[in-house]
Amino acid sequence: MSEPPHRRRAHASARDLERYGGLFAERTKVMRSSAMRDLMAITARPEVISLAGGLPDTSTFPPKSFAAQMTRIAQESSAQALQYGPTEGFEETKDCILQVMGAEGMLPEPEDVIVTTGGQQAIDLITKTLVDPGDPVICEAPTYPGAVPVFCSYQAEMIQVDCDEQGMRVDRLEEVLAGLAREGRRPKFIYSVPSFQNPAGVTLSFERRRRLVELAREHEVLVVEDNPYGLLRYEGEPLPPLFQLEGGDYVIYVGTFSKILSPGIRLGWAVAPPPVMEKIVLGKQAADLCTSTLTQYFVREYFSEGRWRDYIADLVEIYRRRRDVMLEALDKHFPAQATWTRPEGGLFIWATLPEYIDSGDLLAKALREDVAFVPGHAAYGDGRGRSSMRLNFSGVREEEIREGVRRIGKVVAEQIALYERLTGELPPAAAPQRPAAGGESADVLPFRRAGEGRG
Ligand SMILES: Cc1ncc(COP(=O)(O)O)c(C=O)c1O
Repeated sequence: MSEPPHRRRAHASARDLERYGGLFAERTKVMRSSAMRDLMAITARPEVISLAGGLPDTSTFPPKSFAAQMTRIAQESSAQALQYGPTEGFEETKDCILQVMGAEGMLPEPEDVIVTTGGQQAIDLITKTLVDPGDPVICEAPTYPGAVPVFCSYQAEMIQVDCDEQGMRVDRLEEVLAGLAREGRRPKFIYSVPSFQNPAGVTLSFERRRRLVELAREHEVLVVEDNPYGLLRYEGEPLPPLFQLEGGDYVIYVGTFSKILSPGIRLGWAVAPPPVMEKIVLGKQAADLCTSTLTQYFVREYFSEGRWRDYIADLVEIYRRRRDVMLEALDKHFPAQATWTRPEGGLFIWATLPEYIDSGDLLAKALREDVAFVPGHAAYGDGRGRSSMRLNFSGVREEEIREGVRRIGKVVAEQIALYERLTGELPPAAAPQRPAAGGESADVLPFRRAGEGRG
């Protein structure tokens, strides 16, 4: 019998770095690891309560229904389902996408749609299509932590516009656009998650939506609307997506089945004006030829049963309860100095601690208590967000949410007690955040104080 192959080293040694260092492309110097991917390895330990992932609860999907759908595929379309497919995706998958977008009032042309390997690939392909090194890309502050490594790897200049509880400060966006115009520059796009934002949980108000698409038209700038959570609303009235308000000339839309069905199937999509779509398709051909045929067949089967809206309604019930449990637990276990958002939908709450607590350091301590969250700096390109954290409430059960928040609250209380001992002074009580360079506040979201906005 031949020897088994040697296990590869987990980390590059100094000798490895010397051997390969001269070969790396310039762009690798600015590549960043996604904070969530790093955390996933640690949080895979069963004893860890992870409030770090952006995970939907896939245990809610009935295994019997999954088995029946896959069996039907095997029996009726095995050869086709195991074959390559068109780069743009199957028409039947696009029919399902049109149903999902239709549920939020959008009606794109099927030929403007491309099926992608998750929404993440759509963000990557759009950036690959539009951004040269040094080009400005505008996004929210904080922004989706998974978009930061994409913008970095294409060497974009990330300009982050602060959010408050009504989403991106569009008045500040206007100033940024005017400033760039004075320099003779135009951003390649404005990236926004307008509904139940990842990570802050905030939603762009109707007036700001209208103003944002007006600005896009005035300045002839594209907006990339990333909307994984629009159908996961737990309270309040639905708001029109930017794509619907604008009509699709200046809005590129990104959607996904990850949060309303399954992230494991890796199916998302983009809708773009034809000239942009042509280039995105070329980029996709180079990246992976086509999206998984098998999972596109699965989605087709699943939608043909006509129960996809019922499943989302079930998810909404479960996640609404989990959000409420997390809000109650934060009230109970987080100190008076902490503040947090109260999302009307989606998967995340954004909490901010006194500025002297670094959430990266806090995470190391929290992991010793077997609990994890995403430290806030992962949502910024410039090191801000250090006293904030993203907490996920969808992926764990109610008892674990309570226990997880209790454990984080405990390490926060220890940090505060330590600060008091070291400085001999009482910490400033929920004071406004320290102004950062340029007069902006460090974490601008006017977070709700503990105890406010209950019920
Ligand atoms: C705002 C946002 N965009 C994109 C994605 C990527 O999702 P996927 O690639 O699974 O569709 C996520 C996942 O959490 C997200 O929150």
